[in-house]
Amino acid sequence: MDEKIFSSCNRLNTMAESLFIPSTTNRKEIYDSLIPQIQALTEGESDLTANLANISAALKEAFDFFWVGFYVKKENQLVLGPFQGSIACTRINFNRGVCGHCYTSKKVVIVPDVEAFPNHIACSSASKSEIVLPALDKNGEVFLVLDVDSNKLDDFSEVDAIGLSAVIRIVEQLILL
Ligand code: SME
Repeated sequence: MDEKIFSSCNRLNTMAESLFIPSTTNRKEIYDSLIPQIQALTEGESDLTANLANISAALKEAFDFFWVGFYVKKENQLVLGPFQGSIACTRINFNRGVCGHCYTSKKVVIVPDVEAFPNHIACSSASKSEIVLPALDKNGEVFLVLDVDSNKLDDFSEVDAIGLSAVIRIVEQLILL
């Protein structure tokens, strides 16, 4: 067996086994526990795709979000990146959807009822509310967005904005690698 691959997998297996999710419905407590674990999970791995994949898996495992994943800016569109959930639209123009609005405004966007958001892109009819956050590169430009969807109305609050912003800070460090 290739030793390099083995040791890398072994390290990740060890990290995955140690992902601890407190048994509470209090999201702040879960974010507080999860964020240092995401920091540890991504430390020492320089591949951005691998890190984004594990971050989306960790968020899915911790909160059982309906859909969680990344759209990465490529040329003049946002293109689907690593995610957890059902299949999703692959390309989003900057003037479309909650993701496009997040990209152009460079702000966290919380949509309590996606049907009331004029430009919403419905990748799944089961999606009812949504939060999208931008990650900026060293020039202050949006490099990617983190999109989280819920199958419940009004499922995201300031607690999620703060918790997921901490995840975005980790992603921004990874972008610099
Ligand atoms: N709803 C998003 C599109 C992405 S999917 O939800 C995964 C939007 O309006 O931008």
